[in-house]
Amino acid sequence: MADAIALLASSRRHGNTGTLTDRIALDLGIEVIDLAALRISAYDYQHRNRGDDFEPLMRRVLEHPQVILATPVYWYSVSPAMKTFLDRISDLLELPDLLAEGRRLRGKNAYLVCTSVCEQPDAHFLGAWRETLGYLGMRLVEVAHLNCREGLLLRELAPAAAAFAARVRAAGLQLAAAPGP
Ligand SMILES: Cc1cc2nc3c(=O)[nH]c(=O)nc-3n(C[C@H](O)[C@H](O)[C@H](O)COP(=O)(O)O)c2cc1C
Repeated sequence: MADAIALLASSRRHGNTGTLTDRIALDLGIEVIDLAALRISAYDYQHRNRGDDFEPLMRRVLEHPQVILATPVYWYSVSPAMKTFLDRISDLLELPDLLAEGRRLRGKNAYLVCTSVCEQPDAHFLGAWRETLGYLGMRLVEVAHLNCREGLLLRELAPAAAAFAARVRAAGLQLAAAPGP
């Protein structure tokens, strides 16, 4: 089993973020799950959505020590599909039968893949990711960002994806070599 999994959440599957994520996944030989194609409904205080695709998805995600989260920057924030996914992680912190699953997020390596039309990803966008992943006990190891103001430039895609994939591979080896808890 590959030690990483990529979760893509863009409003277009084969847009800028999807293309970058696919290239990284190809380099790493890992799976990309398209969150926007899954049936994951909005957070519900009454948890009436427990039959949707969220819990089976999380069981798959939790099998991996490294998780790549990919989203475009939409209005200084994440895409709708990523926001819904992040909101639903609250289920793992609230539902007694899922608490043990939620704790399994701790110590995982997290990676952010994002695109925007700015030179750097927005500081508030990055700040929200750092706070969220920190709250969950995940380590934000690396951020890959491409400025797509002129579209996704093919000359930038391959080197950015290869460099990012190399860092994921190296961090995965370090994780595997680290002594267990
Ligand atoms: C609804 C919407 C909101 C956006 N908001 C921002 C933004 O706040 N900052 C930014 O730099 N780019 C913004 N963009 C541009 C996208 O981040 C950029 O085009 C990105 O590469 C699109 O990725 P995609 O093809 O995966 O959707 C926005 C685009 C859309 C459609």
